[in-house]
Amino acid sequence: MESLAEYLSSRAKQVDAALDRFLPPETRRPATIHRAMRYSLFAGGKRLRPVLCLAAAEACGGTLEAALPLACAVECVHTYSLVHDDLPAMDNDDFRRGRPTNHKVFGDGMAILAGDALLTVAFEILGHAETWPRYDMRALVREFAHAAGSLKLIAGQVADLEGEGKKISLAQLRFIHECKTAALLTTSIRLGAMSANAPKAQLATLTKFGHALGLAFQVIDDILDVTQTTEKLGKSAGKDVRAQKATYPALLGLAGARKEARRLTAEARAALKPLGANAARLNELADHLLAREF
Ligand code: IPE
Ligand code: IPE
Ligand code: MG
Ligand code: MG
Ligand code: MG
Repeated sequence: MESLAEYLSSRAKQVDAALDRFLPPETRRPATIHRAMRYSLFAGGKRLRPVLCLAAAEACGGTLEAALPLACAVECVHTYSLVHDDLPAMDNDDFRRGRPTNHKVFGDGMAILAGDALLTVAFEILGHAETWPRYDMRALVREFAHAAGSLKLIAGQVADLEGEGKKISLAQLRFIHECKTAALLTTSIRLGAMSANAPKAQLATLTKFGHALGLAFQVIDDILDVTQTTEKLGKSAGKDVRAQKATYPALLGLAGARKEARRLTAEARAALKPLGANAARLNELADHLLAREF
């Protein structure tokens, strides 16, 4: 098996090349919107969700070719969510993926439109996916739209905004993290499994894995906001305290949040047991994400 570092970089390159093929070129009229879309998409994200999509497909015996459109679609939705998350009316961030945020460069109006266009092109890309009798295009569209919609990603963003400056319960905080982050991460993994025509039992196993991993991922994101520098993160650090966001460190303290991240990662790994040796790469990825915790 190639090393994790090689795996991450080779898969990220394949995703980037595919995204480049799926997106209109920068010169395509109106050039401003295509420049704005590509500015954020190719700014150097970790490509975690697409890599998990591909790794889930491989764990279920699928191919890279079948999973790639789904991996790209997920990254477009993720990037749109970041562009809008950074807007002055939301988290008001100046720095993302190591460069000024989209609205800082292109203006608020164009950043809103770039987000809209990234969300829309995601569904166009999804339309390129191969389907199976078990998972037809209707199933893929419903899966994807549900994760991005007002019951999941948007629900989380709404609760996140409404939670600013308020004392909320751990259950409410978990709801925010499940919706704004764990849902799309879980769907990335599920879509990878679907591209491999995975049996329903495997899909259920990977769903449990994705949910725990997705929660761990947002708990760690909250921790890093407190413990890391802007340079290291490529996005502004310390912003959650400033905005009085509901976060795990705010509710449980740093030590409590770290413990929760470790517990959730162990839960994710335990969920993979039924996949046996096929889950080696996914286990490695779960450990890799936890290793970002400081
Ligand atoms: C940031 O996600 C937003 C969260 C849901 C925590 P990532 O940390 O995956 O951001 P990129 O894609 O690497 O920029
Ligand atoms: C972002 O959560 C979640 C989504 C964009 C859906 P955060 O607001 O914590 O992400 P960062 O810290 O700005 O990357
Ligand atoms: Mg936010
Ligand atoms: Mg934010
Ligand atoms: Mg954050």
